[in-house]
Amino acid sequence: MAEVEGNITIDGPAGAGKSTVARLVAARLNFLYVDTGAMYRALTLKALRAGIEVEDEEAVGELAGNTRIELRGGRVYCDGEDVTESIRAPRVSEAVSLVARSRRVREYMVQLQRALAAGGRVVMDGRDIGSYVLPEARYKFFLTASLQERARRRAAELARQGYRHPDLEAVEAELARRDAMDAGREIAPLVQARDALRIDTTSLAPAEVVERILRIIQEG
Ligand code: DC
Repeated sequence: MAEVEGNITIDGPAGAGKSTVARLVAARLNFLYVDTGAMYRALTLKALRAGIEVEDEEAVGELAGNTRIELRGGRVYCDGEDVTESIRAPRVSEAVSLVARSRRVREYMVQLQRALAAGGRVVMDGRDIGSYVLPEARYKFFLTASLQERARRRAAELARQGYRHPDLEAVEAELARRDAMDAGREIAPLVQARDALRIDTTSLAPAEVVERILRIIQEG
């Protein structure tokens, strides 16, 4: 494969397959994979443990300033503790969109994300990466899938992680609520960047999405 330079952004709603695809694309290109959702989740976990009201934008903003979030070797660390598994807990998923509304939280995360991407050769996934965090990125993708399919994937993932098999309708409602909050927030909402390529993954396996993305990148 010819040498690829620059950064790659992959945005989209929850359950569209972003992290699976982004991780595989990064591995194939030998790029660094940055899961920005994990960063918001790590701070949310810390806030919940500390008993901080996640709706209190000031309080979570202040917490962000006193928190060290790192992504190393495919793991997520919060103040030095490996939180890779615990940030996937349903209570974190339920609260994370509220934490991600805070201006100070976003400023803190975006600064970290831009620093990680400064050297290039990064695949970064999230909600606002192509539109706001890295507007100059070389390749931009926006993944979508039907709400039903996204809920099915999320439920399967939860079951795999050992959570009691969740009710599909409840997962669907939770995803729809989170999408509405992420797309409706004031600062850097979930939106397709004008120059991003949209891929509907509803009937595609992750490997097919990866191949499509790699082909587009190869074609320049
Ligand atoms: O991708 P995920 O489900 O792990 O993301 C968790 C939440 O974090 C998502 O509901 C909204 C927020 N988020 C964000 O606001 N901006 C990003 N770039 C990534 C995630």
